Amino acid sequence: MRITVIGSGYVGLVTGACLSDLGFKVVCLDKDEEKVRALQEGDVPIYEPGLKEVLARNRADGRIRFTTDACEAIEHGDILFIAVGTPPSEDGSADLAHVLSVASMIGRHLKGFKLVVNKSTVPVGTADRVRSAISHELSHRGMSLDLYDVVSNPEFLKEGAAIDDFMRPDRIVVGIDDGVNLAKSQRMMGDLYASFNRHHSRTVWMDVRSAELTKYAANAMLATRISFMNEIANLADVLGADVDHIRRGIGADTRIGHSFLYAGCGYGGSCFPKDTQALVSTAKAHGQSMRLVSATEQVNEQQKLLLVDRLVQRMGPDLSGRKIAIWGLSFKPNTDDMREATSRVVIRHLLERGAMVSAYDPVAGSEAMAALQIDCQADPGLLDRFDLAADDMQALQGADALMVLTEWKIFHNPDFQLMKDLMRRPFILDGRNLYNPEALSELGMAYQGVGRRNDLVQLLSFEPIPSTDAFFQSSQVEKQKLNANA
Ligand SMILES: NC(=O)c1ccc[n+]([C@@H]2O[C@H](COP(=O)([O-])OP(=O)(O)OC[C@H]3O[C@@H](n4cnc5c(N)ncnc54)[C@H](O)[C@@H]3O)[C@@H](O)[C@H]2O)c1
Repeated sequence: MRITVIGSGYVGLVTGACLSDLGFKVVCLDKDEEKVRALQEGDVPIYEPGLKEVLARNRADGRIRFTTDACEAIEHGDILFIAVGTPPSEDGSADLAHVLSVASMIGRHLKGFKLVVNKSTVPVGTADRVRSAISHELSHRGMSLDLYDVVSNPEFLKEGAAIDDFMRPDRIVVGIDDGVNLAKSQRMMGDLYASFNRHHSRTVWMDVRSAELTKYAANAMLATRISFMNEIANLADVLGADVDHIRRGIGADTRIGHSFLYAGCGYGGSCFPKDTQALVSTAKAHGQSMRLVSATEQVNEQQKLLLVDRLVQRMGPDLSGRKIAIWGLSFKPNTDDMREATSRVVIRHLLERGAMVSAYDPVAGSEAMAALQIDCQADPGLLDRFDLAADDMQALQGADALMVLTEWKIFHNPDFQLMKDLMRRPFILDGRNLYNPEALSELGMAYQGVGRRNDLVQLLSFEPIPSTDAFFQSSQVEKQKLNANA
């Protein structure tokens, strides 16, 4: 069986790379010419651990190639994956324009039987719309409408661990509907994922609508666990309890489990925010409300501003002349993805309040710069007070506070004494609960985690300070360099 993957973003590239690593001949199609050219030259446009290596070895062995030629790509694959984006529309519903345009394109090029496998996250009923779009084109060309089948195969990979998730799936959800091609489609999907089912079957077979909804239900459940723990953490804060103890205490219950119980400064990324919105919107369109999921979203929006609120409580609403250091920009570690990252909201609010911001991220610097330029489009001058530091310690120089927004491993065990020496005021707002509050308190540093006995915070005085900042000025060259690269 040969494979075509349409859309070469996070999901498409990982799917293509992993399937080629399993021996399939893969063609990845994308409409973005620059992206395809880069991929053809061996560059990988996203940061995903292990992806570059898998792509390089399969490209060298001739098992994967990249093209913008739809005709050639659709001719190639027996299975055609749709892995294009489904961004949120203004009303929160999933925008299906890319998916449906791919469906029409398939219909225009189809010559023999193809199995169309939808990997994009799409609302229930999308497979029907994909079928209509393909059939419309086939009828137009006077061809048989039995030349294809559409199945749903939602993707559950996590950015930052995507290769591992694809190669060692907990489960593979496949939705297939009854029809003339049922047996053929089942056999092809079975063959496609046979390598993962050798020991025991990981495939969960179901109808298409259930498969489409399974993906939203999974993301809504995970997002809800996070927002739930954030609410518990915020309560723990005022009650003088530690959410980290609570997390372990409840996670040990096998009915609850340990995953996704970490309190923090909000979730972001390309999936949870958009998929919860889309689920709420789907329910609304069918006269239902998803009260839990709506509340999950609202809690998350507020949580993203938690650290800014705390800073304002300590320093007042006008942050002019304050320098705030940020560690971590991507929405989570091991990715450079800035979609819906908490850092974007935090940085914009800090700049709007007059603060100077110096930020460091091990990987996402230029992606962050590009994202912030979009966020500050209405007032580009704000970015004059933003600086990308060359390393974590440079960001701290002369800072009045540090906000830890992404739990990259290199932030786990920093030199606290050096941090204290570098900062104008040793005040750490730990949005990912990386540090031990007692240990930092003993070092004479003010520390606030999320739900971490914040009664331990040592009070520092925050008297007005002059707005000129020699440290900040010294890193302007670096800023200009990174601006130019963004
Ligand atoms: N990123 C994740 O972690 C993740 C995980 C699971 C599911 N998903 C879902 O998978 C889908 C894809 O997400 P992503 O993060 O890979 O998106 P992405 O934005 O990174 O990539 C989408 C790619 O599709 C290409 N494209 C758009 N229209 C096209 C067309 N007509 N022909 C060819 N190429 C086209 C774009 O140029 C882009 O390269 C979404 O529905 C998303 O919700 C994403």
